Amino acid sequence: MTNFWKNIEKPIISLAPMEDVTDTAFRELVMRISNPKHLDVLFTEFTSTDGLCHEVGRENVIKRFKISDSERRLLDQTNTKIVAQIWGTDPEKYYRSAKFVAEEMDFDGIDINMGCPVKKIIKNGACSALINTPELAKEIIQATMEGSNLPVSVKTRSGIKQHQTENWMRHLLETKPAAITLHGRTQKDMSEVPAEWEEVGKAARVRDEIHPHTLIFGNGDIQSLNEAHEKSRQYNLDGTMIARGIFGNPWIFNPGYQPSLDERLDTLLLHTQLFDDYWQNDRNFAVLRRFYKIYVQGFPGASKLRASLMQTQNSEEVKEVIEEFRKKVPFTAEA
Ligand SMILES: Cc1cc2nc3c(=O)[nH]c(=O)nc-3n(C[C@H](O)[C@H](O)[C@H](O)COP(=O)(O)O)c2cc1C
Repeated sequence: MTNFWKNIEKPIISLAPMEDVTDTAFRELVMRISNPKHLDVLFTEFTSTDGLCHEVGRENVIKRFKISDSERRLLDQTNTKIVAQIWGTDPEKYYRSAKFVAEEMDFDGIDINMGCPVKKIIKNGACSALINTPELAKEIIQATMEGSNLPVSVKTRSGIKQHQTENWMRHLLETKPAAITLHGRTQKDMSEVPAEWEEVGKAARVRDEIHPHTLIFGNGDIQSLNEAHEKSRQYNLDGTMIARGIFGNPWIFNPGYQPSLDERLDTLLLHTQLFDDYWQNDRNFAVLRRFYKIYVQGFPGASKLRASLMQTQNSEEVKEVIEEFRKKVPFTAEA
C-alpha cells in the first residue's frame, strides 16, 4: 500500500475528524457541495479500539467506519482520500484494530487520536492524556504500524496544562509517523482560547530536525480556505485541517460560492435523507437536528425557520417544515 500522503499536492487541506459530525452522510454531503480541488482528505469520527476488538462491541461501533456506496463513488471520482481515526490505551488492541481496518475496511490511512480532551475519555489515559505517557504513545503508534501497511498519522495537542510542543513532538517523531496534525491548544485549553499557531510552527521546525519525511498539519480556528493556505505558508506546514469552520460555512471548500436560498434548503434536505438512509434508527435524530443551523442562516426568516426545525422529531416533519417555509418565502421579512 502506498503512502497516499506523499502523492497529494501541497498544501494538503482536510476536513477534521468530528464525533457525531463526520459520518458517511455528512462526508458525502460535503463532497457533493465542495470543489474537489480544494478538499484532499476526510476523516471518520474517532472510534474505540476497545469496541473494535470486542466481539459484541464491534457491532456497535462498526457503523462509524462504514463508507456508503454513494460516498465511495464520490471518493473515487474526486480522488479524495479517507482516513479512519482510532483511540484507546492498549497497544495490542491498536494492533488488532489496525489489522481489521486494513483487511476488512476500505480506508487510505489510519489516524490515532491523541488530542481529545473530554474528561470521560482522558480519565483512563486515552487521547490527549497520552501526552503524559510518551512511551505508551510510542508503543501505540508502533503497534498500529505493525498491524497494517496503511500510512499511520497522529492528531494531537500541544500539551496538557502548558505547551510542551518541542518535547512531545520529539517523542512522536521518533516513531516516524506519516503525518502529525497539531491542534495548537493544550488539553486544559479545551476549545476555550484561541489556538496558538506559533506552537504549530514550532512543530514543523522540530520535524525538520528529527524526521523530515513526516508531514505536519496545523489545526485550530481556521475559518476559510484562504486562511488555510495562508497558515500553511506562514508556518511552513504541509497543510491544514478545518473543523468547526464548516459550521460557519458548509461551502467552505468551494471558495467564493454563494448558495441560493433554495440550494441551502435542498442541502439541508439532502443531508437529512443521507442521514436517514444510512443510520435509520441507529443514531438519535437530535444529532442531525443540531446541524440545521449551519444551512439556515443569513436569509430572511432564518431564525424562525431554525426554531421550527428544532422542534422536529423525524425527517418527515423536516420535509413538512421546509415545504411550509417555501410556500411563505415571498412574504417572509425578518431574519
Ligand atoms: C463536534 C466536534 C467533534 C469532534 N470530534 C473529534 C474526533 O472525533 N476526533 C478528533 O481528533 N477531534 C475531534 N474534534 C476536534 C476537531 O477535530 C478539531 O481538532 C478542533 O475542533 C479544533 O479545530 P477547529 O478550531 O478548526 O474547530 C471534534 C470537534 C468538534 C467541534
